[in-house]
Amino acid sequence: MPPKIIQLKIKRQDNPKAKPYWQEFVVPYKPLSNVISCLQDIQKNPVTQSKSTVNPVTWDSNCLEEVCGSCTMVINGRVRQACTALIDNIEQPVVLEPMSKFPVVRDLQVDRTRMFRALKKVKAWVDIDGSHDIGEGPIMPDSVRATRYTLSECMTCGCCLEACPQYTKENDFLGAATFSQVRLFNMHPTGAMEKEERLEAVMGKGGIADCGNAQACVEVCPKNIPLTDSIAEIGRDTSLQLLKNLLMK
Ligand code: SF4
Ligand code: SF4
Ligand code: FES
Repeated sequence: MPPKIIQLKIKRQDNPKAKPYWQEFVVPYKPLSNVISCLQDIQKNPVTQSKSTVNPVTWDSNCLEEVCGSCTMVINGRVRQACTALIDNIEQPVVLEPMSKFPVVRDLQVDRTRMFRALKKVKAWVDIDGSHDIGEGPIMPDSVRATRYTLSECMTCGCCLEACPQYTKENDFLGAATFSQVRLFNMHPTGAMEKEERLEAVMGKGGIADCGNAQACVEVCPKNIPLTDSIAEIGRDTSLQLLKNLLMK
């Protein structure tokens, strides 16, 4: 009986400015293979299905357990993490493409700097005064803690932005992940001290008002983060902030 094989079709790009092209590869089947293990096999023996030796395919990965988000790519047309994409559960040939909403660095690697810049813009952290002991933190009700825990699972993977029709390479829409982080840090008793600053940051161009409410983001979030709830809540908060700004004039 011939050995089982895994067929892959990969969109490649040699550098950020180069034209993309496709290559096909075949790797031996191993039980419990996932997309990363296939890419590792190709890296060890970068020979295409038509027997040409090529440059090894590049990709990003780190945790290998769907925590860091770095291995996010489009697999058979669906944006997801390569480390948890088990070959037994996906159709062959396995078609791999880099996310389309971020600049390609090389092959399947993309530059997600824009996401981290957006987190910086909304101050997605809780300010503390220094490294000295400031004692116990404020007590939070369990319901707040539970919601915050869910929101804190965001791994800045980019799936929600890849799926969002409003998020394009050309515009500066902040996107669902950022709005959800505003909610996370505004819910924290200490983080709430910067609540207005965060709301102001999502009220301008590229902010919450640009969300078309298509809800594609929530469908693809691997962490099941209630993104549409976050969008609705931040939408309400920004309307109140707007009113407050008008009254204070
Ligand atoms: S609701 Fe729609 S437009 Fe708004 S962030 Fe989600 S996918 Fe994008
Ligand atoms: S909200 Fe979900 S899909 Fe969006 S970046 Fe965070 S984990 Fe990824
Ligand atoms: S390698 Fe970290 S999420 Fe896949």
